[in-house]
Amino acid sequence: MTINIDKKQFQQDLISWFLAEKRDLPWRRTADPYQIWISEIMLQQTRVDTVIPYYKRFVEKFPTLQALAEADEQILLKEWEGLGYYSRARNLQAGVKEVAENYGGIVPDNRKEFSALKGVGPYTAGAVLSIAYGIPEHAVDGNVMRVLSRILLIEEDIAKPKTRKIFEEAVTEIISHDDPSSFNQGLMELGALICTPTSPKCLLCPVREHCSAFDEGKQQDLPVKTKAKKNKAMQYAMIAVKEGDCVLMEQRPSTGLLANMWQFPMVELAKEALPLEIEEELSENFSGVVDGVEKITSFKHVFSHLTWNVDGYIAKGENLILPAHMKWVTAAELELLPIAGPVQKMKTALQLRGDV
Ligand code: ADE
Repeated sequence: MTINIDKKQFQQDLISWFLAEKRDLPWRRTADPYQIWISEIMLQQTRVDTVIPYYKRFVEKFPTLQALAEADEQILLKEWEGLGYYSRARNLQAGVKEVAENYGGIVPDNRKEFSALKGVGPYTAGAVLSIAYGIPEHAVDGNVMRVLSRILLIEEDIAKPKTRKIFEEAVTEIISHDDPSSFNQGLMELGALICTPTSPKCLLCPVREHCSAFDEGKQQDLPVKTKAKKNKAMQYAMIAVKEGDCVLMEQRPSTGLLANMWQFPMVELAKEALPLEIEEELSENFSGVVDGVEKITSFKHVFSHLTWNVDGYIAKGENLILPAHMKWVTAAELELLPIAGPVQKMKTALQLRGDV
């Protein structure tokens, strides 16, 4: 595409605004590529305000790449608990281990090697390379696409995977070679503070003079983004089986959604099921007696591509012989297990009742 902006002036306006106005964020106080990598993984699909306390705890717990490479996965998942998209944490550790083993613990400083690491996509690679190493690489995420679709009047559908390439090429053409870090972060900051999805604050924009959408009054019409498909809805029963002071927990499989995280045993339901049917379903998992099934709560949990409609039950177990992925835990042990959002909802319902 042809780009009709004064590149030098644009770079200067964007970078001086960024340097003057940038938020004081914890990952902006370090030059450590490992820590910046962590921040960029956490910031995917997650708001800055949410990430800040997680990031701080995480770098305190795993201050070096070596520390994370050697960390126990369950402890890592516990640190990530509540952030969502848990495969990010597992992939991050896999990538970090590769760096420890194959690169002597030094994060690679080129796109080819860095983006070959587990969990590192084109955005993450560009963000870390530009911010930590000052290399003029593009870092295009949804926010950057929104900003540039307006400035450069790009009307391609940003929901289409192929569209990203157009933006990457545009950034490659206009990025500052003197300060690629501030340039990329300036685009991100503009997207966060000024060039917001709705009601962009054009009158405060430092690069308004370069903005084609503003010129044509189209800033509200961009980016073009077709609607995502509707989430698939699943029905589950989640059952807190109690025996004495203990409650039964199961670990999810090591692949797929919420891999290796813990939950109260769950069974998928075809429809609104009766307690007796749930007892039967549940009893298929182990030998022994499960009875006294009582419904205590219902809730919904929305994942990115999936919605869980969950009915929460309590039940009593007697002489159960457990499969390898289940175990009895005390209330104190329950606190140590990594659990995801919907399981937290169930846990809270149980705690309110005094059941755990
Ligand atoms: N979003 C993605 N990366 C970011 C960063 N480095 N600072 C602020 N917001 C971001």
